[in-house]
Amino acid sequence: MEHLINSRVKNIEISGIRKFFNLVSQFDDVISLTIGQPDFYTPEHIKNYATKAIKENFTTYTPNAGIMEVRKAATEFMKQKYNLDYNFENEVITTVGASQAIDITFRTILTEGSEVILPGPVYPGYEPLIKLCGAKAVFADTRESDFKLTASIIEKYITTDTRCIVLPYPSNPTGVTLSQEEIMEIACLLKGKEIFIISDEIYSELVFEGNHHSIASHLREQTIVINGLSKSHSMTGWRIGFTFAPEDITKHMLKVHQYNVSCASSISQKAAGEALTNGLNDALPMKQEYQSRLDYVYNRLVELGISVVKPNGAFYLFPSIEKYNLSSFEFASKLLEEVGLAVVPGDAFSEYGEGYIRISYAYSIDTLTEGMNRLEAFVRRLETNKI
Ligand SMILES: Cc1ncc(COP(=O)(O)O)c(C=O)c1O
Repeated sequence: MEHLINSRVKNIEISGIRKFFNLVSQFDDVISLTIGQPDFYTPEHIKNYATKAIKENFTTYTPNAGIMEVRKAATEFMKQKYNLDYNFENEVITTVGASQAIDITFRTILTEGSEVILPGPVYPGYEPLIKLCGAKAVFADTRESDFKLTASIIEKYITTDTRCIVLPYPSNPTGVTLSQEEIMEIACLLKGKEIFIISDEIYSELVFEGNHHSIASHLREQTIVINGLSKSHSMTGWRIGFTFAPEDITKHMLKVHQYNVSCASSISQKAAGEALTNGLNDALPMKQEYQSRLDYVYNRLVELGISVVKPNGAFYLFPSIEKYNLSSFEFASKLLEEVGLAVVPGDAFSEYGEGYIRISYAYSIDTLTEGMNRLEAFVRRLETNKI
């Protein structure tokens, strides 16, 4: 029966990250710096609140967009943190992680032949969903602009079919953020054009220098903001995300969401409400810890003579391995075989990630120290032609 499977689905490949995980699982004594999730436990007060919800039998379906207390908390959070105004009644949807938020957004706004401009390299979760809509992912080369999708780069890629631009900052896999000025330039370029902006701000609470700034404060009418609790509150397994968009867009996304999942988990929604009210600053201690880990790993890479853009957010570094004359997959495979260190090959993040590797520093300083020692041993061997 396989020949009857939807060809759009058949043409999607499993992610490069997953492929590499499968390889890593065949080795023992591996230090893995591959995972894109916080290494902290979900804060205690959130877990307690969820336990209470279960005990009180809060275990039924909820309104499609989510319970009022979570929508209210989410919109107040966006106001307080980023000065964004959304109406909790009709401009927010509580989703099953940011992943489902991305999916319902694409399915609402894209049609056959639509083009979506994304920075390359980029998180691999977008392209397959774009393809499922019969639309086309257009990767804009950001290697010469420190991985920033700037207004002048976007301009080069706009065609009459461009329907959407994805702005995923702070970025996975590079950790780079856009300044307020850079965002304003993009807003100026796109204002009045019939182009949506999907602003994936899932790492917004993990910005190190300065404050996170959203394009929605300039182009509210065209923007769908995606956020969630996976990274800010270390709640990846609870699966809570959000969309924030004007009512005339939200009401259509809500239909896709309704027929897709009905609603996010009732218990997770309760936990999310608690996270967004009494856990307003739960990300702070984690952020401080990430920042000192970043400094450590960044300095080790610089000492090794490896070129890397210093990130300003999230928990990834994206160093160049181009000078070793190996593809990113070869480099990562040899690194694994020779010294037992796992990182993600850059080509998992589009063709523009070739020549780089992604290092996650969502790990303890002991693990990072051992990881960097192994990387050092490996590049010394490469440099002396012992591999
Ligand atoms: C940029 C980006 N967007 C979205 C997601 C998905 O988040 P969630 O786990 O909430 O679905 C991730 C996860 O790594 C991500 O890095």
